[in-house]
Amino acid sequence: MGGLMQRVRILAFAASHREGSLNRRLIAHAVSQAEAAGAAVTLVEYAHFETPLMHDTDDLGALPEGVARLADALLAHDAILIASPEYNWSMPASLKNLIDWLSVDPRAPLTGKPVLLLCATPSARGGVTGLEQLRTPLALLGAWIYPQLIGIGNCAAQENAPLHLGARDQQFIQTHVAAFVHAAHQLAAPAI
Ligand SMILES: Cc1cc2nc3c(=O)[nH]c(=O)nc-3n(C[C@H](O)[C@H](O)[C@H](O)COP(=O)(O)O)c2cc1C
Repeated sequence: MGGLMQRVRILAFAASHREGSLNRRLIAHAVSQAEAAGAAVTLVEYAHFETPLMHDTDDLGALPEGVARLADALLAHDAILIASPEYNWSMPASLKNLIDWLSVDPRAPLTGKPVLLLCATPSARGGVTGLEQLRTPLALLGAWIYPQLIGIGNCAAQENAPLHLGARDQQFIQTHVAAFVHAAHQLAAPAI
């Protein structure tokens, strides 16, 4: 894309293990939009970050492999795209667990990272309550959360097909992903 000296590097994942995950398909769509907006995106499988439950102890020791992989990946990228399901009006426990582990990494891998949060759900509400809850620990750990939360409701559960998105949702996602890439580039500019 013209004007960007160097491409902003974005790490992307969906916080779901399901084969037919709606959020996996939403992140694939967002990744293509981010690439069209000039970003270099690394899309990773959530299973790659599988991590035991965090329990506070006097000596937490080394980070478990899964979260160490996520922390390393975060440090190697300028920004993050996360598509997360809403579970019981909140975030999946597995994602909160990863955030808790990241919070004890002395390298502070979330600090200063721009993050765009998305959710796909069959529910009409679009999962925005879950994203609001997800925003809190990320922001308090120093991430910069893009102000518009991207909740996509009424998603049809067609297995193994691209997410069916109406024209308004497509426009909504395209507009905000492009604005996020631009903001992430501005925020990362001193480093790149
Ligand atoms: C334990 C559980 C709780 C859920 N709670 C919510 C909820 O609060 N809001 C919502 O929109 N969907 C809820 N759902 C439905 C999910 O949005 C739906 O299963 C979605 O497809 C999960 O995302 P995925 O397809 O990416 O795996 C829940 C599903 C499960 C299994």
